Amino acid sequence: MSVINDYKVGMTVYGKISGIKPYGAFVSFEDGVNGLIHISEISNGFVRNISNYVQIGDYCMLKVIDVDTQTKQLRLSFKALEQNTRKYQKRVKFEGMPDNVKGFGSISDKLDDWIKDFNKNEKKNGENMLKLDLNYAKLDKDIFSYQEKVNEAHKWLHEKSGKGSDYVGWVEWPNNYDKEEFDRILSLSEKLKGKYDVLLVCGIGGSYLGARAALEMIRGLYPEKGPEVIFVGNTFSNTYISQVLKHIEGKDVVLNVISKSGTTTETALAFRIFKQYIEKRYGKEEARERIIATTDKNKGTLKALADKEGYEEFVVPDDIGGRYSVFTAVGLLPLALAGVDIKELMEGSKLAYNDLATSKLEDNAAYRYAVARRILNDQGYKSEMFVSYHLQLTMVGEWWKQLFGESEGKDGNGLLPTSVCYSTDLHSLGQFVQDGNKCLYETLFLIDNMPEDIIFPNDDENLDGMNYLSGKNVSWVNKMAQEGTLSAHSEEGGVPNIIINLKDNSAKAFGYMIYFFFKACGMTCYLLDINPFNQPGVEVYKKKMFKLLGKE
Ligand code: PA5
Repeated sequence: MSVINDYKVGMTVYGKISGIKPYGAFVSFEDGVNGLIHISEISNGFVRNISNYVQIGDYCMLKVIDVDTQTKQLRLSFKALEQNTRKYQKRVKFEGMPDNVKGFGSISDKLDDWIKDFNKNEKKNGENMLKLDLNYAKLDKDIFSYQEKVNEAHKWLHEKSGKGSDYVGWVEWPNNYDKEEFDRILSLSEKLKGKYDVLLVCGIGGSYLGARAALEMIRGLYPEKGPEVIFVGNTFSNTYISQVLKHIEGKDVVLNVISKSGTTTETALAFRIFKQYIEKRYGKEEARERIIATTDKNKGTLKALADKEGYEEFVVPDDIGGRYSVFTAVGLLPLALAGVDIKELMEGSKLAYNDLATSKLEDNAAYRYAVARRILNDQGYKSEMFVSYHLQLTMVGEWWKQLFGESEGKDGNGLLPTSVCYSTDLHSLGQFVQDGNKCLYETLFLIDNMPEDIIFPNDDENLDGMNYLSGKNVSWVNKMAQEGTLSAHSEEGGVPNIIINLKDNSAKAFGYMIYFFFKACGMTCYLLDINPFNQPGVEVYKKKMFKLLGKE
């Protein structure tokens, strides 16, 4: 018997909002049944915008008001849960309502078409990987008034005609990445499988942040499978380097050194130390098998060294800068060595490429995000705070900060990218966001389906007074913290919030999200007439430091 028969009119059910249209909100249930809350069933009051009441991903308590066993669809109501409801008496007119819809009676006739239409649109959007919600962004300008400027900047990106156009190789990369090198990455990771407990990844900035963000987001902070991955070459901290050396004692290691220029000091310093350690421990011959270099195809100190030592080498393409290089060997090799499915990751980047290849703002969420950033900048906000709700997403924030900070922070311009992880940081920076200087807005980076949920246990004595949460999922508690904080910061605090919802923490979703931010970053910089692909400012400290270090 079909599961739809389990549903009866009058039942109270708990479903997830899976789509929002001008005429209603779609709801899905874990058993595969779908339903619609028509706009007139949201509230007894006038509802102009459904998104002011529910958001995609919300879990809601609803009343079943009709069951269509033929189409296996439910008609659902919020307001029927309210007391003294005057059901069916109100007829509302709303934007986008088909002319032939006169009242509630005709909804069941239309429901089927609407659901088909909804599914069609959802499929077009990269399997529904990422959603952007600007309902809380408090924009004082219409996003679409930027369409012309966006068209122009889109051409600069796609036709390589804007500032820094020698470095837009990443735009087409999901289509034309080097398949031969990709296969070499897969065979090497297969060949080395089981030969190491620790993978040392030696690199800094764009040569490390992407891989680390991916690993933590996809595997979590304490993964059950795969090697331990330790990032070195990203600091001059003597204590850190010494502790890593002690920590790897007695463990089998493989080292991937990554540097496009091949001359970055933090990386070169650590590489010499760990290279000598590996050679001493395994001998020069075996060290050759345990060290892999990712660097420029033709030039640089690391390239020359790798050639001389006979290391296996992978390439950072000429036309892709460090912070745009996650989909090259820079990100793919350490990820493959750590057991991440890099085919899936590239699939995600391709999905994003397809979704975001248009200049039409209406269809391009990355460009809408870019425009929203510009509008908020003009409204006087000088900082964007990237907010996640899972500790394993902290490094995504670090990667995002580098991408936007190095790309946009030029010519006295740019939003200061900052990041926090809530609810942890609600106990530190939460006070500032709620009540402090109104210099910032928040960008919520939410993932709908994080794995490994926990049901909060009951305690008969209830000494901690926590029994009000007994039987609830910890993910639900986190979600309520999210909703409460959004309302506190946005309504009482007046802080604009951009919401980015990613489907899950898979390699595919990661690939999608990275390409989304690349595209948004390129666009947002071009809208400010800034070259997104250079970083002249970082040379200044280097010159001063080299002088002090006595470098020629
Ligand atoms: O985004 C960038 O270009 C920088 O952050 C670089 O990736 C970083 O400085 C490391 O450079 P390299 O790969 O040359 O060692």
